[in-house]
Amino acid sequence: MTLFELLHQSHDIQRSLCRRLTATRGNVAQRELLFLQLKIELEAHAAAEERFVYCPILLTDAGLSVSRHALAEHHDIEEYCEDLSIRDKAGDEWLATAKKLSEKVRHHLKEEEKKFFKVAGRILSDKQKALLARRYDKDVVRMRRKLAADYQKVDVSTAGHVQPAR
Ligand SMILES: [Fe+2]
Ligand SMILES: [Fe+2]
Repeated sequence: MTLFELLHQSHDIQRSLCRRLTATRGNVAQRELLFLQLKIELEAHAAAEERFVYCPILLTDAGLSVSRHALAEHHDIEEYCEDLSIRDKAGDEWLATAKKLSEKVRHHLKEEEKKFFKVAGRILSDKQKALLARRYDKDVVRMRRKLAADYQKVDVSTAGHVQPAR
């Protein structure tokens, strides 16, 4: 897979988890599990994307503005995840914040796909893209494993995806 195909693959996972999370009603255990999966995916993807997409283009004049913008949004998303990482996830207030997170994530993914990745695509050479794809892929799976290891409820499949623990 190309660098941008790999990035899109995680974006699709994030969109699906956001949709399922904001649709949860009553079943708090399921809500907790979906939130954990989403949090790990967001964090692992943002780390690998910062290291192997935004860091290389931040070093160029043409990539400075978009990489700065993307990193600020990653930070906002991280803060929503922190606010949601409370013991009691049953209330309407929690769900309202989860919806805000979901909106923020969707906005960010759209902006990356429509704008930031296009800028990155123009800056990076084909050789750089191929190298960064391999490094991104390795790091996102390593980060998912590292983050999932903190919890007993989820693990990472042999294909490298976060899943409920068996
Ligand atoms: Fe991002
Ligand atoms: Fe992304």
